[in-house]
Amino acid sequence: MATASYPMPILFLAILVPILLPAVVSSSPSPSVTNVNGSYTDLTALLAFKSLLSDPLGILAGSWTSNVSFCRWVGVSCSHHRPRVTTLRLVDVPLHGPLSQHLGNLSFLIMLNLTRIGVAGLIPPEIGRLRRLRFLDLRGNGLSGTIPSTIGNLKSLEFLRLSNNTLSGQIPPRLLQSMRNLQWFTLAWNELSGNIPLYLFNNTPSLNHINLSNNSLSGPIPQGIGSLPMLTYLNLSANALHGSVPAVLSNLTRLTVLDLSFNNLTGEIPQRLLQSMRNLEWFYLAWNDLSGNIPLYLFNNTPSLKNIDLRKNSLSGPIPHGIGSLPMLEYLSLGYNQLTGTVPPTIYNMSRLQVIAFKSNSLTGPIPNNNQSFSLPMLQWITLSRNNFVGRIPSGLASCQHLQVIFLSYNFFVDVVPTWLAQLQQLTYLYLGTNSLHGSFPAVLSNLTRLTELDLSFNNLTGEF
Ligand SMILES: *[C@@H]1O[C@H](CO)[C@@H](O)[C@H](O)[C@H]1NC(C)=O
Ligand SMILES: *[C@@H]1O[C@H](CO)[C@@H](O)[C@H](O)[C@H]1NC(C)=O
Ligand SMILES: *[C@@H]1O[C@H](CO)[C@@H](O)[C@H](O)[C@H]1NC(C)=O
Ligand SMILES: *[C@@H]1O[C@H](CO)[C@@H](O)[C@H](O)[C@H]1NC(C)=O
Ligand SMILES: *[C@@H]1O[C@H](CO)[C@@H](O)[C@H](O)[C@H]1NC(C)=O
Ligand SMILES: *[C@@H]1O[C@H](CO)[C@@H](O)[C@H](O)[C@H]1NC(C)=O
Ligand SMILES: *[C@@H]1O[C@H](CO)[C@@H](O)[C@H](O)[C@H]1NC(C)=O
Ligand SMILES: *[C@@H]1O[C@H](CO)[C@@H](O)[C@H](O)[C@H]1NC(C)=O
Ligand SMILES: *[C@@H]1O[C@H](CO)[C@@H](O)[C@H](O)[C@H]1NC(C)=O
Ligand SMILES: *[C@@H]1O[C@H](CO)[C@@H](O)[C@H](O)[C@H]1NC(C)=O
Ligand SMILES: *[C@@H]1O[C@H](CO)[C@@H](O)[C@H](O)[C@H]1NC(C)=O
Ligand SMILES: *[C@@H]1O[C@H](CO)[C@@H](O)[C@H](O)[C@H]1NC(C)=O
Repeated sequence: MATASYPMPILFLAILVPILLPAVVSSSPSPSVTNVNGSYTDLTALLAFKSLLSDPLGILAGSWTSNVSFCRWVGVSCSHHRPRVTTLRLVDVPLHGPLSQHLGNLSFLIMLNLTRIGVAGLIPPEIGRLRRLRFLDLRGNGLSGTIPSTIGNLKSLEFLRLSNNTLSGQIPPRLLQSMRNLQWFTLAWNELSGNIPLYLFNNTPSLNHINLSNNSLSGPIPQGIGSLPMLTYLNLSANALHGSVPAVLSNLTRLTVLDLSFNNLTGEIPQRLLQSMRNLEWFYLAWNDLSGNIPLYLFNNTPSLKNIDLRKNSLSGPIPHGIGSLPMLEYLSLGYNQLTGTVPPTIYNMSRLQVIAFKSNSLTGPIPNNNQSFSLPMLQWITLSRNNFVGRIPSGLASCQHLQVIFLSYNFFVDVVPTWLAQLQQLTYLYLGTNSLHGSFPAVLSNLTRLTELDLSFNNLTGEF
C-alpha cells in the first residue's frame, strides 16, 4: 500500500489505479495526466459525449449503463488486448446535440462513424488528436462552421467523409498534407466556398475517391488532381468552378466516374481527355459553358462508357462517330448545344441505349427508316425536338417496346401520324407538334392508356378526333 509520505495527488492516483502505480512512482513525482488509467479516460470521454446529447429514444440511456463494461455498450468496440475504445459507431439513431471535445481523448480510436444521428454545431478541433484514427464518417448531420485544420494531423486517416452537413468557409489548405493513406475524401453537400486549395492533393497518392459536389467552390480545378494514380471517382459537380477542364485529367487511367457538371467551366474539351480511361462509365460535363467541337476521337478508347451528358454547353460541330461504337452506352444527352451535321447512323443501332436526348441543336438529315438500320430495343426516351431533322418519323420506333417519351417537335418531319404508335403501350409523352404531318388523326391512338400528354399542334392534320 502507498505510504503516507507521498504528496496528496499521487496518493489519490494510487488508490484509483494501483496497477499503474510503479510506473507513476518511477517516472516522476508529479505524474502527467497521460499516466492515468486510459480506460478511465475513455469512460469519461464516452460519458461526456453522451451527456451533451438529448437521446430522445433513450438508446444510450438504456445501454450505456454503469453495470456493464463500456466495451459492451451499443456502438462501442474495444481493443482485444485492453479495455480501450477502438470503434465508436452510431448510425441512424437520433441523438441530437453537439459533439463533445472529450472525443479527442479516445486515443485508441480507429473508427468514428456517427452517420445521420442529428448532431449539430462545430466539429471539435480535439478530434485532430486521434492519431490512430483511420475512418472518420460524420455524414448527414447538421454540423456547421469551418472544417478544423487539426483534422490535418490525422496521419493514419484512410476515409474522410463529412458530406451532407452545413460546413462553410474554405477547405483548410493543408488538410490532406499528411494523409498518405487517404483513399476516400468526400465533403459533398455542404456550403464550402473559396478555391479548392492548389496543393490539396499533392501528397495523397492513395486517393481513389473525391466527392466535393454541391458546395460553392470556385476558382480552377487544381492540376494536382491529374497526378492521383489510384483515382476512380471524381465528382466536382454543382459548384462554381471556373477555367478549363485540365488536360492532365487524361492521366487518370482508373477513372470510372468523371462528373464536372453544373459549374462555370469554359474552353474546349481537351482532345485526349479520355484516351486512357478504359474503365470510364460516367462522363458528365453538362451545364457548363464549354465551346468548340466535341473532339473527333474523344470516345475511341472508352469501351465501358454507360452515360454521357454534355447538355447545356456551347459545343458546336458534328457528333463524333465513335459514340455509335460504345458497346455499353445507355444514356446519351447532348441537348442544348450548337451541334450540326447528321447523327452518325450507328447511334440508331445500339443494343443498350435507353435515352437519346439531342434537343435544341442544329442537327439535320433523315433518320433511318427501316428495322435493320434503326434498332434500339432498350430505348425509353427520345428527344430530337428543335433541330432540323427531315424525312419520315422512323418506323423502327414501333419495335421499341419500352418507349415512354417521344419528343420530335419543331423539326421538318413529313409524314402521317403513324398508326404503329398505338403499339407502344408504355408511351406517356408524345410530342410531334410543329412539323409537316398530314392526314387524319389516327383513332387507334386511344389505345395508349398511359398517354398523359399529346402535342400534334402546328401540323396539317385534317379530320376529327
Ligand atoms: C481503469 O478504469 C476502468 C474504468 O473505470 C476500471 O474498470 C478498471 O478497473 C481500471 N483499471 C485499473 C487497472 O485500475
Ligand atoms: C443494467 O442496468 C439497467 C438499468 O439501469 C438494466 O436495464 C439492465 O438490464 C442492466 N444490465 C445488466 C446486464 O445487468
Ligand atoms: C479530455 O478532454 C477534455 C477536453 O478536450 C479535457 O478537458 C480533459 O482534461 C481531457 N482528459 C481527461 C483525462 O479526461
Ligand atoms: C458508417 O456506417 C454506414 C452505415 O452502416 C456505412 O454505410 C458507412 O460505410 C460507414 N462508414 C465507414 C467509414 O465505414
Ligand atoms: C442529406 O440530408 C437530408 C436531410 O438531412 C436528406 O433529405 C438528403 O437525402 C440527404 N442527401 C444525401 C445525398 O444523402
Ligand atoms: C457524392 O456525394 C453525393 C452527395 O452526398 C452523393 O449523392 C453521391 O452518391 C456521392 N457519390 C459517391 C459515389 O459517393
Ligand atoms: C455527383 O454529385 C451530385 C451531387 O451531389 C450527384 O447528384 C451525382 O449523382 C453525382 N454524380 C455521380 C456520377 O455519381
Ligand atoms: C444540393 O444540396 C441541397 C441541400 O443542401 C439540395 O437541396 C440540392 O438538391 C442539392 N443539389 C444537387 C445538384 O445535388
Ligand atoms: C501523369 O502520370 C504519371 C505517372 O503516374 C506521372 O509521372 C506524371 O507526373 C503525371 N502527369 C501529370 C501532368 O500529372
Ligand atoms: C456561373 O454561371 C451561372 C450561369 O451559367 C451564373 O448565373 C453564375 O453567376 C456564374 N457564377 C459565377 C461565380 O461566375
Ligand atoms: C392496342 O394495344 C394492344 C395491347 O394492349 C396491342 O396488342 C394492340 O396491337 C394495340 N392495337 C393497335 C391497333 O396497335
Ligand atoms: C400545310 O399545307 C399547306 C398546303 O398544302 C402548306 O402550304 C403549308 O406549309 C403546310 N403547313 C405545314 C405546317 O406543314
